[in-house]
This record gives sequence, structure tokens and C-alpha cells, in this order.
Amino acid sequence: MNFPSHLLGLRNLDSDQFKNIFSSTDLYLKFIKEKKSLKKDLTGKSVLNLFFENSTRTRISFELAEKKVGLDSVNFNSDNSSISKGESLLDTIKNIEAMKFDFIVVRHNTPGIPLFLTKNTSAKILNAGDGINEHPTQGLLDIYTLQKVYGDLKGLNVCIVGNVSHSRVALSNIFGLKTLGANVSVCGPKSFIPVNIEGLGVKVYFDIDKAVKENDILNILRVQMERDAGSSLTSVKEFHKYFGITSERIKLNKKIKILHPGPMNINVEIDSDVAESENSLIFDQVTNGLAIKCALFNLMK
Ligand code: CP
Repeated sequence: MNFPSHLLGLRNLDSDQFKNIFSSTDLYLKFIKEKKSLKKDLTGKSVLNLFFENSTRTRISFELAEKKVGLDSVNFNSDNSSISKGESLLDTIKNIEAMKFDFIVVRHNTPGIPLFLTKNTSAKILNAGDGINEHPTQGLLDIYTLQKVYGDLKGLNVCIVGNVSHSRVALSNIFGLKTLGANVSVCGPKSFIPVNIEGLGVKVYFDIDKAVKENDILNILRVQMERDAGSSLTSVKEFHKYFGITSERIKLNKKIKILHPGPMNINVEIDSDVAESENSLIFDQVTNGLAIKCALFNLMK
């Protein structure tokens, strides 16, 4: 089967590759939902979870998926590594390479570090989020979640809401959704919308109520305070007033479905009653993300 050696992003995946990932994910998801053991197809292979940024969902779901498919996994956390003693990233990578891992899952705040790893190790690289570039496993689980609800994604209207300019989730969603034929838009204050985003074939809304009325799905992004998103806003309270997804707002389109990659800033970009409403697919996203990761290891082995 034609599958890339590394998963750096969704930019270059074609629709057949998405279909392969999703049909393999269907099998894993059935076992996960029934709490049945999976065939340990990757026994004897090893993986390093190389995290330079904090994570809850991505890291836990990778670790659990690795155990489920039989991988020997090791966790690296930059805070308690020799990086804190001044060791360079390249020296760290050279030492990791000497240990002959089969896979490396990497999260880093600098775009391009997963690509850098492909040039400096023999392991297969899975990008778990690189700065504001891509977050392909998040994009895959978002798109898979929509496919489970809607089937064919052609013509579906998906609006990515909020802090697009600081988001790696946005780009992976845009690339993947467009490849599968969805109509993609973004909505947020001007300071959160990249200037040339229309060049990616994306419509721009500055009016959230209009976006709610005209779309089937809102994928709501976190306001990324750790990437200084706050300095692009007059106030968080004002952002909530003009762009926050409240239960009042979703009454404008009762059928609308809600995605959020997490972690959520409650009462900033989304209210808790929306996150827990019947419109929300947020916890399905998390379950599906586990199955996506099992499928990826199997396809890349
Ligand atoms: N969606 C996501 O990447 O969440 P974490 O940062 O908790 O992994």
C-alpha cells in the first residue's frame, strides 16, 4: 500500500491515503469501543515519544495506542532531560538515533522539527504538532469524526473558528478537508486571521452569527495564550462576546455540530454547555484519535 514513510502533515496526503487510514481506523475503533484486545502487530518494534511541549490528549492517546499495537514505548520529556543541562537538540537527536528506535512521535514549538528529524534519524516520524505549522493526527481525527457522522464530506461546510493564526490544527484541517471535497471557511477577529488565507481556497467570515447560520460544523480553536495570542486581542471578554460559541449562538442553527481539539478555554472560545451539548462531537474526537493512532502505526510499520 502506498503510504508515506513519515507523517509530517496532511498537505500532501491524497484522498486514497485518507480512505486507507479511515478504513483501518474503523477496525481499531470497533475493538476499542468493545474494550477488546487488539492484535499486537508491532511487537518487537520501538517508539520514542519526544515531547518538547505539554500535551494531554495527543500524548496519552499515542502512549495507549502504542501499548495496544504491541510497541515498546519510551517517553522523553524535555524538562527532565539533559537539554536542561545545555545539551543541544542535534546532540540529543544523535543519541536517540544511536538507540535505533523504529518510530519517533515528536511535538515541538518550532515548525519543521519533525522534518529535521527525518534528515537526522532513520526512524519513521509522526508529527504530534510542530509550532504553528501542522498537527496531522489532530486533523485526521477531526476529519474522521466528521466522516463518521456525515459519510461523504463533499460539499460539507466546515468553519474553523477563532485563533487561526496561532493554530497548527487549522492548517491540517484545511489541507485534509479540502482534499476530501469539503468547503472550508475561517471566522475570527482580523488579528486572528492570516492575511493570505484565501489563497488556500478558504472563505473568511468576520461575523460569527453568519458563520453559524451558513455552516454544518464549527471547529472551534483554543485561544493560544502561550503563543501570545492575548496581545492580538483587545480583551478576552470582548472575544467571548463577539466570537465565543454560546448556547444562544448555536440556536441560530440547531443542527450545527461542534468540534474542539482541546484543551478548551471555557467561557473564552466555547461555553461548557455547548461543549457538553448534543451538538458536540468533542469526546468522540478523543476516542477516534486513539483508533487513528493505532491505524497509523499499522500502516507505517
Ligand atoms: N489537541 C491536542 O493536541 O491536545 P493536547 O495538547 O492535550 O495533546
